[in-house]
Amino acid sequence: MLYILDTADLAAIKHCNEFYPLAGVTTNPSIISKEGGDFWALVKEIRKIIGKDKMLHVQTVQTTAEKMVEEAKLLKKELGGDFYVKIPIGEEGLKATMELKKLGIGVTMTAIFTPAQALIAAKAGASFVAPYVNRLDNIIGDGTEVVAQIVEQLENYNLDCQVLAASFKNAEQVHKCALYGCHTVTVSADILKNIISHPMTDAAIAGFEKDWAGAYGDKTILDM
Ligand code: E4P
Repeated sequence: MLYILDTADLAAIKHCNEFYPLAGVTTNPSIISKEGGDFWALVKEIRKIIGKDKMLHVQTVQTTAEKMVEEAKLLKKELGGDFYVKIPIGEEGLKATMELKKLGIGVTMTAIFTPAQALIAAKAGASFVAPYVNRLDNIIGDGTEVVAQIVEQLENYNLDCQVLAASFKNAEQVHKCALYGCHTVTVSADILKNIISHPMTDAAIAGFEKDWAGAYGDKTILDM
């Protein structure tokens, strides 16, 4: 499973890109608006931090297929590298996805809440489908079960499309997605930190440090 960072916060991107096996960054209009300022400067800086080889997903703000395609082409030209345009599911979005497939521009079909939406997005040629796990959990919609059903459908029909699960509030949701064979998750920096944290790990490390210091003081292996 690949881990993507779901933010446009440059400090968080720099940190997580250095310390975690990050596959890229996802944004949406709400995430971009939270940072504010110059749009192009922000997304180009994200590309600079993660490099050309990691995925960058940026969402269109257009509402017609024609304009979505035009915006996707511009985003791809300006941001280059491993780029995906995020398009919300809908008739205009599906039309744009079929056109972008022909042009070789990757699409992440977003705002997915049902396996049926995901299946038709995959048939239109989306490279990724992004179900919103926590927003489903908020209405007792069992977000991780929806992810499991989408994974199963894509495998059953042998479709060239991956699940990029989104909208997480905790590490347990991410863990369940991993158990269900989800291909990619996009999460916050806090969730990444929670995934690697455990009080027993802290206790184990404290024990190693205490025992070593008892025998060798502040000397490390490099000093021996
Ligand atoms: C993906 O990028 C989605 O837009 C995002 O994960 C939604 O998350 P939220 O439900 O926390 O807004």
